[in-house]
Amino acid sequence: MESKIFAPLKMEISNVDLFYGKFQALKSVNMAVQQNIITALIGPSGCGKSTLLRALNRMNDLIPGVKITGKILLDQTDIYKSGMAVTELRTRVGMVFQRPNPFPLSIYDNVAYGLRVAGITGKKELNEIVEKSLVGAWLWDQVKDKLNRSALDLPLDQQQRLCVARLLTIQPEVILMDEPCSSLDPIATMKIEELMIELKKNYTIVIVTHNMQQASRVSDYTGYMLLGEMIEFNDTKTLFTRPSKQLTEDYISGKYG
Ligand SMILES: Nc1ncnc2c1ncn2[C@@H]1O[C@H](COP(=O)(O)OP(=O)(O)O)[C@@H](O)[C@H]1O
Ligand SMILES: [Mg+2]
Repeated sequence: MESKIFAPLKMEISNVDLFYGKFQALKSVNMAVQQNIITALIGPSGCGKSTLLRALNRMNDLIPGVKITGKILLDQTDIYKSGMAVTELRTRVGMVFQRPNPFPLSIYDNVAYGLRVAGITGKKELNEIVEKSLVGAWLWDQVKDKLNRSALDLPLDQQQRLCVARLLTIQPEVILMDEPCSSLDPIATMKIEELMIELKKNYTIVIVTHNMQQASRVSDYTGYMLLGEMIEFNDTKTLFTRPSKQLTEDYISGKYG
């Protein structure tokens, strides 16, 4: 790996192969995720971006017939080791999905959901964490006067920020985002991008995007994937201005496909 390491490593992915049945979706993938840094994964549709992202909190475990080998470390611990507490892992490494997926509940109940599941029921404590999380997701001002209204009535970008708020309540360390802006218009996209840059002060972020401009605007490190391989992983500026591989050059200059 050519990349310069500046921040402490939060996650380390080494020689990861992943199979869906007989189909190999990840081929000896290596990647370093630095703490308080935004790492972007780019590449054409079907190249394995979502698969790699899901491997980082073992979401692929839920798909029958998946086999994974290699190593994925979170703070030096192998997350695939036997006895790993997967539910706890998913609270440390949380995910925001492509389409906002609020529950059909009120705004307040959406944000309080995970806390209640965790057994927190005190009104004062719930109120405090709900407010703090909504502030953190830049949504508090817009919703503070209508917390009992249905989350499904919010505009899409606010629904997506609500999903971020819901995640913040469980205080993850790493936030995985799979094309979080793909259903949003350009202005809403900008707000989410600004939010990501704010969030990286406290969280480590890995984002999948098919939008190269987005990767170059928000990320510090970028991985370019093709057909299950990590073709190039480098700091974002270098990858977009002086890529070391011809395949990367072809993709970022629009020559691919
Ligand atoms: N659940 C699954 N079962 C079988 N094949 C899958 C599954 N999910 C993804 N794939 C295949 O794995 C490859 C990578 O998919 P994916 O990670 O979704 O790519 P990307 O996110 O880059 O579009 C694709 O060929 C896709 O068809
Ligand atoms: Mg995908």
